Amino acid sequence: MAGLIPQDFIDDLIARADIVEVVGRRTQLKKAGREFKACCPFHDEKTPSFTVSPGKGFYHCFGCGAHGTAIGFLMEFDHMSFVEAIESLAHSMGVEVPRDDSDQPARRYDELFSLMDAVARYWQSCLRESPAAVEYIKKRGIDGSTAKRYGIGYAPDGWSNLIDKFGGSAEATDRLLATGLIIQKDNGQHYDRFRDRLMFPIRDARGRTIGFGGRTMGDGEPKYLNSPETVLFHKGRELYGLYEARQALRNIERLVVVEGYMDAVALARHGIDFVVATLGTATTEEHLNRLFRITENAYFAFDGDRAGRKAAWRALENALPQIREGRQIRFVFLPDGQDPDSFVNERGADAFVKLMDSGLPLSEFLIQELSSQVDMETIDGRAKLAEMARPLVSKIPAGVYRELLIDSLATAVGLTALKLEKMMTSRPAASDRGLFAPAGKLRKRTRSAASGGPSVVRRALTLILNEPTAGRKLDTDLLAGVQRPGVDLLVSLIETVQSEPTITTAGLLERWRHDEQGRHLGKLAAADLPLDDEFDPAAELAECLQQLALAGRKERIEFLIEKQRVTGLSDDERSELAQRR
Ligand code: UTP
Ligand code: MN
Repeated sequence: MAGLIPQDFIDDLIARADIVEVVGRRTQLKKAGREFKACCPFHDEKTPSFTVSPGKGFYHCFGCGAHGTAIGFLMEFDHMSFVEAIESLAHSMGVEVPRDDSDQPARRYDELFSLMDAVARYWQSCLRESPAAVEYIKKRGIDGSTAKRYGIGYAPDGWSNLIDKFGGSAEATDRLLATGLIIQKDNGQHYDRFRDRLMFPIRDARGRTIGFGGRTMGDGEPKYLNSPETVLFHKGRELYGLYEARQALRNIERLVVVEGYMDAVALARHGIDFVVATLGTATTEEHLNRLFRITENAYFAFDGDRAGRKAAWRALENALPQIREGRQIRFVFLPDGQDPDSFVNERGADAFVKLMDSGLPLSEFLIQELSSQVDMETIDGRAKLAEMARPLVSKIPAGVYRELLIDSLATAVGLTALKLEKMMTSRPAASDRGLFAPAGKLRKRTRSAASGGPSVVRRALTLILNEPTAGRKLDTDLLAGVQRPGVDLLVSLIETVQSEPTITTAGLLERWRHDEQGRHLGKLAAADLPLDDEFDPAAELAECLQQLALAGRKERIEFLIEKQRVTGLSDDERSELAQRR
């Protein structure tokens, strides 16, 4: 097989493909309003519940739940691979699939990569010339060689440093835009995204810079500004520091996963080179896939507070399907108020490694967490534990590990393993739908969503998926720092429709095809938006963002107040709280 098919080609193909024709050539379709109907080709039925929406470029069966784009349909119906489906679709539209070895797109990627490298080098040189930035990294305990190893730089203040230096032609400006280094205003003018920030290049497995994270050196907001979703950079996928870890180590026997840039760099500075960071997003299945291709031993380090336990639990849920014989997953909790950066700077590398070694094995963490939610003294409580464990255990591939876990659970609830297994299979699990339960009637949800709960995220995702143009004018900065499942995904979607204004519903679904969260997007894309004229998806979406921003602010204040009560606040936090109130 030839090289990679460029993403923009796939976007374009999907936008131009006629799903009605693709499906209609293989199944008898009947027009019904703005859509087409048929008896579902994927399951046996007498009355048609299979619909094709030409507007969204998407099909969906209300009977069996099958859904997808033109590419997905070819894969399912004709049993093609992804690449075969693209080739078949392209062929039927009379276009050729470009490849790495053909001229255009590959050259474009190369140019984007070399721009990113040049910018990274430029910012490194700016760091050497900025006493304030040098002072800052020294204060954070980073020495020169670590800074160099991670390519840390400094983006000077000013609105047009990059434009002046790298934007000499229209094409060059386009490249700056495509890599997210500059931002286009409504009037067509541009400005630098990163100003007066300490810059962390994010590199891919081959060491090419694909994005940046920039930390303010004062108390500006957001604390970290990251590159947007671009053709080079997909946030939910990358593990910061993986390239550097591989450079430093011949064998990677274990990896510790931390949350932040500074955590990774600080550990490396102290000789703990086997470290990667997830960059503030939840640990996804995709992250785990990557990890386990490199090492059998993964340690997740989390803050010791409630938020940290919650994040750890989410990582656990995602890790369950990845459990295999020989793989070891441990959860490491830092003392309250500490992160790996502060811990290692205060206590040193040996203490951190000790902490890692005393981390909880996955099974123990699972049982501990579940036990803490029920009254283990009563039969009811133990039965409840068994029920809560059921959907979790069922995510683990059958095998020795699963059996062992069931044994440990049985011991915990005081039953034989056999009895417990019976108990777990007797009753259907309580709702295991997670974040992406079917969206239902959007209008009705408006009020219940006012609290900014997960349903707002869901509603926003549904809106942008169904009506990508609704996201064009939104300011994703509003969501900076809003910590909620699905918000990262929402930001990525918005950034994508802003950088690819012609992208369709189907195009978005294809972009997220290989993403763990992408699987859920199909269900949301199947929702119907109200048809009436007064329904304004852009306004609705903007309102969702406002609600989320508000809820995020409220939570932050509550967090600060609670922290003030329990451990007291740092100077920065105290002034933040004063400002926010
Ligand atoms: P933290 O808020 O825990 O910051 O965010 P940190 O890593 O301890 O950073 P320092 O020590 O204050 O410098 C953890 C990670 O979440 C992402 C970043 O990747 C950060 O490293 N994040 C955080 C953002 O992307 N944006 C933000 O505004 C905040
Ligand atoms: Mn920190």
